[in-house]
Amino acid sequence: MNLVLDYEQMNDILEKLNKKVIKKEEPIGYTTFGFPIDHYTYGHGNDHVILTAGTHAVELISNVFLIKFMEKLSKEKFIDESKYTLHFIPFVNPEGTIVVTNAIRSVIPKNDNPEHEQLICLQYYLNSKLEDDYVRDFQDRDIKTHQHMFRHFDIDKIDDKYKQLMNNVLKILKEQDLSVGSLINWASNGNGIDLNSNIEYGVALEEIKEALKEGKKIYNSKMTRINTLDKTKPGVLGCPTVSFPVKIEPENVALFDFYKNIKEKYDLVGSLIYHSCGDIVYYQDTMVEENPWNKEFGEKDIGVNRKVAAKYAAIANYQVGTPTTYTTMDAKLKSIVPGTLLVELGGIRSTPLSQFLNFSTFNIYPKIMRKNTEAIVETIKVMSSQYHKDDLEDFNYMVLVNKDNPIKEVDMPIDLIMVGRNNSDGEPIKLEKEAAIWFKLMQKEANQIFTNRIIADSGYRTIEKQQEILDFYLKPEERGEEAYNMVALPGLSEHHTGLAIDVALIQNGKYNDDLTGEEEELQWLAKNSYKYGFVLRYPKDKESVTGYSYEPWHFRYVGRELAKKIVDENLTLEEYYNLNVKKMIK
Ligand code: DAL
Ligand code: ZN
Repeated sequence: MNLVLDYEQMNDILEKLNKKVIKKEEPIGYTTFGFPIDHYTYGHGNDHVILTAGTHAVELISNVFLIKFMEKLSKEKFIDESKYTLHFIPFVNPEGTIVVTNAIRSVIPKNDNPEHEQLICLQYYLNSKLEDDYVRDFQDRDIKTHQHMFRHFDIDKIDDKYKQLMNNVLKILKEQDLSVGSLINWASNGNGIDLNSNIEYGVALEEIKEALKEGKKIYNSKMTRINTLDKTKPGVLGCPTVSFPVKIEPENVALFDFYKNIKEKYDLVGSLIYHSCGDIVYYQDTMVEENPWNKEFGEKDIGVNRKVAAKYAAIANYQVGTPTTYTTMDAKLKSIVPGTLLVELGGIRSTPLSQFLNFSTFNIYPKIMRKNTEAIVETIKVMSSQYHKDDLEDFNYMVLVNKDNPIKEVDMPIDLIMVGRNNSDGEPIKLEKEAAIWFKLMQKEANQIFTNRIIADSGYRTIEKQQEILDFYLKPEERGEEAYNMVALPGLSEHHTGLAIDVALIQNGKYNDDLTGEEEELQWLAKNSYKYGFVLRYPKDKESVTGYSYEPWHFRYVGRELAKKIVDENLTLEEYYNLNVKKMIK
């Protein structure tokens, strides 16, 4: 089986699909050079999901994967047609795909012997490994030698229907004085724009503004990857900066409108955006206040996204990642549709060919195909259940860890982020992602009210860390046996969940963790923390229920809905569990 397919070959597969199963719809738009951005649908269910590939043209494996997935689906119909409608945009960036796959034909002939094809892929894979090391050392993204396959780009051999597009690419290279193999150009479309960075909001725009003021070109910027950034060369070069607001590429306009349109008309339960490098599933985690695009995107949706990402990652054996800023088109799409994931298909980056291979397994493509197919099938079920809020209970972070209930493997945190540093050793203090976001917000708002600062004192702990703390307090000169009422045994501490946080205060510049609960800051926390999803876990009058003495500093994230319930009914987590959860399990 050939792995490296060009634009024509991929379209051949699409044309041969069973049209009763996968329908070709009207294109969602056209590129600058008039190529259609094609749209196909599968099924007729109420729950809609959008799947896209090829934002970055060099990430060829994403197109190939999605098209092969469509082929398999049209034959085997392994997704419920009456429940779901899938929308496929296999070429988000047709111009880019045309350019890249034409260049590839100078290196691998069409329908080459698959073994030879794989050998060449291997060669590019090895080159890219070397290059990765080189780039890491020298931070130079412009002279990646593995990109030099594009030096073989023979414009005369290119079909007439692509001539205008190809000439434009050569013109960009010449006018911008870029090396033929310049990486960044080939992440882009035929107009020299990285679609993913060609957006109107966010940090990228600020950087563009700055660069423009200084008369700089920043096509090679690590931050933005907007090439051809030269105010004096507008027009066909696709320069987005001729006027403000920024000129958005037609592909992005079409895609954004398409998402909005589907979202307005139907239940759009999520979408999957395929890229190629990293073995990572990215989800959007930032809250509405910081989100410039969609004020509707509520805090609950962070939980939706996280859960959907966790499902995909578990099946595909990928890492979970979260972006920190809204600088890309993909982040924008993820923001307008909760449930949306960006999936990086392969562990290998950079060249269109290296992505088809992995050194250890030689031919990695069938593995990518298999695990991602399964991940899609299962993930869209989660997207749907989250969209309709079918299993809300999970959002509550109802995890009970106490003297009778040790931490379970499934309750270990998957995504820890830093909320502060330990006062004595400077080690990062971390919380599970969602708890961390809410803790930071709570801290920010408290610190606007008080002059003393509330800081994180202890968060996630490993079993070993808990042992260390216990050993310390067990010393006769510390608390001796009394320590067992204050510190949990390793494995029995809810600090293992990443959902528990101990706070301390900075009073007149001095660190204080010797708190009584009488401090006005702690009184405020006890009263208001439920608004941020936290509860005071070991209250004064509930020692016999929790098994621990009063800890005015220890707060536990349970989610806002559950926190309110627990506070309204004056319960501990143990009491809530016995009254509600146990009954449900029976
Ligand atoms: N201080 C609490 C009980 C813990 O060690 O988890
Ligand atoms: Zn604690």
